[in-house]
Amino acid sequence: MVSSAAEVRPGMQGEIKDTLLTPRFYTTDFQEMESLDINEQEPEFRAVLQEFITDYNRNHFVRDDQFGKSFERIRGEERTLFLEFLERSCTAEFSGFLLYKEVARRIREKNPLLAECFRLMSRDEARHAGFLNKAMADSGISLDLSFLTKAKKYTFFKPKFIFYATYLSEKIGYWRYILIFRQLQSDPKFRIHPLFNYFENWCQDESRHGDFMGLVLNSQSRWLNGTSNRLWIRFFLLSVFVTMYLNDQKRSGFYKMLGLDAKDYDLRVIEKTNRDASKVFPLLLDVDHPEFVRLLDVCVENNKKLESKQNMLSKLPLYLSNGLNFLRLYLIPTKESLPKGTVC
Ligand SMILES: [Fe+2]
Ligand SMILES: [Fe+2]
Repeated sequence: MVSSAAEVRPGMQGEIKDTLLTPRFYTTDFQEMESLDINEQEPEFRAVLQEFITDYNRNHFVRDDQFGKSFERIRGEERTLFLEFLERSCTAEFSGFLLYKEVARRIREKNPLLAECFRLMSRDEARHAGFLNKAMADSGISLDLSFLTKAKKYTFFKPKFIFYATYLSEKIGYWRYILIFRQLQSDPKFRIHPLFNYFENWCQDESRHGDFMGLVLNSQSRWLNGTSNRLWIRFFLLSVFVTMYLNDQKRSGFYKMLGLDAKDYDLRVIEKTNRDASKVFPLLLDVDHPEFVRLLDVCVENNKKLESKQNMLSKLPLYLSNGLNFLRLYLIPTKESLPKGTVC
């Protein structure tokens, strides 16, 4: 996956620096995973598997000759922002690849149908990560993915939480890619790199992955009903939205390069993902609540101030404020999910 001509680094900063906002790698309880009973929905799972086998994007990720000179026009601050986007996207795709591949390997004997779906999704994610890494390599830098595999810390989540998290990350990934694609389609002067031409078909992979995760969640109704699950789902929805918002507002210059306003883009992604996820989740966040955006923006301002603070004592009030604002966001009453068949 790594171009030999490029300078290969574990990360562009030369070190692995994990924060709450960097893409994470996950592991899970494989015994519980292999014992998931999907028999009642077997026909639906077979249909999804057939789609994965068909592999609509088999010939999609082929680089054209536009890539060779792709970095010539991207210079200075824009180059840094674009490379950072590639790095974060590649790490996130690669994290999906590792998790899906490991699940497929560990459950294939006892749960072959589920395992095969995971294996084919790991094929897609490997393709996505490899494509992004090759795009980075055109600039002379690429990620050492085998180093990342060993050096990154793995976060343990029980299978239920793995499915909450991956369902949401696939769905939000779909909306992030398609909204960028539509923007560049309507205003091609902002298409600064040929990579974006691939996003329309690419995001269909993410949509299929999300549908598969949703099918697993639907097959395990004990994960979707009851007070405790509702509280956890609410937490996952909010965490995913807050993480994206804080990350993107810090890098608003990247979205400006694409002719997008980072805030407007993120709020559209949140609105779409929130509605989309409620096809499976029993609730959705009230993202139109007047306090929702205001509290997010207070966290963005706190993060800006944190950058200039040197010691823990001066950082503490800002961390506390962010914690309190997250709690306030969490306590905004939720809405019930949309009727089945609603178009997002
Ligand atoms: Fe992907
Ligand atoms: Fe995916």
